[in-house]
Amino acid sequence: MNTMIKEKKSNQKNVEQEVISAELEENNMKVRVENFNFYYDTTQALKDINLEIKANSVVGIIGPSGCGKSTFLRCFNRMNDTISSIRYEGKIRIDEKNIFDDNLDVVDLRRNVGMVFQKSNPFPKSIFENIAYGLKINGIKDKNFIAQKVEESLKNAALWDEIKDRLHKSAFALSGGQQQRLCIARALAIEPEVLLLDEPASALDPIATAKIEELIHELKKKYTILIVTHNMQQAARVSDYTAFFMLGELIECDETNKIFTNPSKKITEDYVTGRFG
Ligand SMILES: Nc1ncnc2c1ncn2[C@@H]1O[C@H](COP(=O)(O)OP(=O)(O)O)[C@@H](O)[C@H]1O
Ligand SMILES: [Mg+2]
Repeated sequence: MNTMIKEKKSNQKNVEQEVISAELEENNMKVRVENFNFYYDTTQALKDINLEIKANSVVGIIGPSGCGKSTFLRCFNRMNDTISSIRYEGKIRIDEKNIFDDNLDVVDLRRNVGMVFQKSNPFPKSIFENIAYGLKINGIKDKNFIAQKVEESLKNAALWDEIKDRLHKSAFALSGGQQQRLCIARALAIEPEVLLLDEPASALDPIATAKIEELIHELKKKYTILIVTHNMQQAARVSDYTAFFMLGELIECDETNKIFTNPSKKITEDYVTGRFG
């Protein structure tokens, strides 16, 4: 963990946190969602969600359009907070800490929980600056460190070899697939622990998609990853666990192989075999 980026973790934990910390550690859990409800005004978008996520695993989130996948993902870095009419109940713990605690710093949270969206959204800047930007706004000034971090992030996002000769050209000159890997590199540069991917490959061709999927395999060595996908084959290929949502409910979450071959609920089977959705 880089001390230039990450502040020292507070060693002041309360008793509840100590107990939960031990539980999570014992089972190698990174994230725990507890009795979580989410409302847009009077519409309940997520209903009593309970879920545990192992460190360094990939959880695929599937379900029909409008079932709450993106809403769920956006809770983990409190992106929904910008919407005025929302309300939520319950807890989401990353390590032992509830991310909704009053004393939690949302800026720190977003540093720790990176997000990449369906539509790649590079800044109107050079490739280099796209990645350096996040470091600079986090107060890093050391030019050598920044250059090193840019290179490392681009390598980790499997983009370096393709673009190392044009780092100072506009990010918009990259192909769609490269732009999406650039956005992943940008998210990685500030060293998050959890990575949220909302249909990151749905606008890409099959070759670019395969690259992103390959990349996810690599990234899980270092990160805990939640990926929303409407592509069932993709969920089957990239995720260790698959969570099936419907109408705001988490119907079941299990090992991916089980969800696709022998799910516990009939409705999951109907969905994964294409009988509806
Ligand atoms: N900003 C918003 N304001 C109000 N309702 C919303 C907003 N975003 C999503 N919703 C509603 O919440 C439900 C879940 O949406 P969403 O999380 O986008 O589903 P998914 O990603 O699975 O397609 C839908 O009924 C949708 O209309
Ligand atoms: Mg969505």
